[in-house]
Amino acid sequence: MLISGPHQVLVPAGTLIIARSFFMQIAISATRPTDAGCLIFPVAKGADVTPGIEAAALAAQAATASRFKGEAGSIVELFVSEGGNALRVLLVGTGEGKLSDFESAGAAITARLLTSGVTSAAVDGAGLEADALAHIGLGAQLRSWRIDTYRTKLSEKAKPSLETLTLVSDSAQLPDALADQMGVAQGVALTKELVAEPANIMYPESFVERVRHLADLGVEVTVLDENDMAKLGMGALLGVAQGSHRKPRLLALRWDGTGGAQETPLVLVGKGVTFDTGGISIKPAAGMEDMKWDMGGAGAVAGTLKALASRKAPTHVVGICGLVENMPDGNAQRPGDIVTTMSGQTVEVLNTDAEGRLVLCDAIWWAQETYKPNTVIDLATLTGAMIVALGFEHGGLFANDDGLANQLLTAGLQSGEKLWRFPMSEAYDKLIDSPIADIKNIGPRYGGSITAAQFIKRFVQDDVKWAHLDIAGMVWADKPGATWDKGATGYGVRLLDQLIRDHYEVA
Ligand code: BES
Ligand code: MN
Ligand code: ZN
Repeated sequence: MLISGPHQVLVPAGTLIIARSFFMQIAISATRPTDAGCLIFPVAKGADVTPGIEAAALAAQAATASRFKGEAGSIVELFVSEGGNALRVLLVGTGEGKLSDFESAGAAITARLLTSGVTSAAVDGAGLEADALAHIGLGAQLRSWRIDTYRTKLSEKAKPSLETLTLVSDSAQLPDALADQMGVAQGVALTKELVAEPANIMYPESFVERVRHLADLGVEVTVLDENDMAKLGMGALLGVAQGSHRKPRLLALRWDGTGGAQETPLVLVGKGVTFDTGGISIKPAAGMEDMKWDMGGAGAVAGTLKALASRKAPTHVVGICGLVENMPDGNAQRPGDIVTTMSGQTVEVLNTDAEGRLVLCDAIWWAQETYKPNTVIDLATLTGAMIVALGFEHGGLFANDDGLANQLLTAGLQSGEKLWRFPMSEAYDKLIDSPIADIKNIGPRYGGSITAAQFIKRFVQDDVKWAHLDIAGMVWADKPGATWDKGATGYGVRLLDQLIRDHYEVA
């Protein structure tokens, strides 16, 4: 069975391999592959442990002894004897059976096996639906992502060994369901890659080059350089960029999988500050390295477009990345400078470290003028205050439309990339009136995430439904999480992919 798509090859023995750009491959087979060095049995929360092996009773005892209850992502590992050989067995909890639970289970399998020495493992898919299995595949694939580019001395033991995870199932729906989720995985991987690369490698021009291959998937790629942006009057974005030797770029990625049926695209806009020193309002040294991931919004947007194009989603979406580096320099903008945005509104730049909103306001204005969208969603690592408010569990949601806000909240719960809504109002808006220009780029100390959102709102045109996601706490993790190791989380791709599946695809 060969299914169409860019990342798939058919190998002999009826095994389908997908997603070549990961080290590991997820395969499908109707029977257990003979080379599988590990057998994996999914177990729902509270269910009896009855794996289809001779040593089933032993496995059940091991589960009890380990206090295993089938919680999503929990694992029991044991060895049994099979035909005189030691065979590794994993019991993996699939929790309450939500799709995100199956993802956690898949990720837990990879976390356990990736560098274990096992090269091939097989998941017993008996009794599981295609969607559930596909999400085990997705979680497993996501957790196998690593960036080893800069490690020249990785020991043999630390190198990944797991090459193939086979989903053993004869479900007729599984190939399509898995191909679909592997498209999502490709998108998340791109986001992680863009976010994890250091700022000497990932800057506006190289970001564009790293994303150009989306054209091979049918994505229309448009790039504006500094001259184009000057002609358009993007004084706010260019004001941020002027302190850096790296030239800014505005990148637009358009995917139309509807054959023209959806005339108006959904527009996504990402903050892509490839490094944020703060500029002349310079940040303290400690922790400044984190600001290499200040392009996480743009990374999520690019990854989402890759996911949509990879899975050939029947939707029309434009993703825009505002790409700049924020540096102090003899030519950098100063606190107190006044810039004119593409919208014509003037901004008093009181703090050059509040640069994300300056990039977004011109990117969003250009997007509205160019694509005339009904709906715009922006994503940005916009404020440290967002992390103070929500920590690392939810992204902050701001919106001018309750329907859109609720769609996003629901997609967050379903995808596991959760959001929490914040208020907006005229009282907050007043706080960014400038005594000398139309707007100032910072408000008072408190409510910093809200005044940042109010700033962006001033650039949203009448009748445009708009949501702003402040994802400052979500794009990077100091500890391993459900589907990521320490580092880039890939946050945003599954959230937006879910939203689009639910509301922005043609039937
Ligand atoms: N990129 C930062 C926000 C940020 C901080 C993201 C920490 C992730 C982790 C943003 O450009 C910034 O510097 N915001 C300032 C705004 C302030 C000057 C009004 C902040 O949050 O301190
Ligand atoms: Mn900043
Ligand atoms: Zn920033």
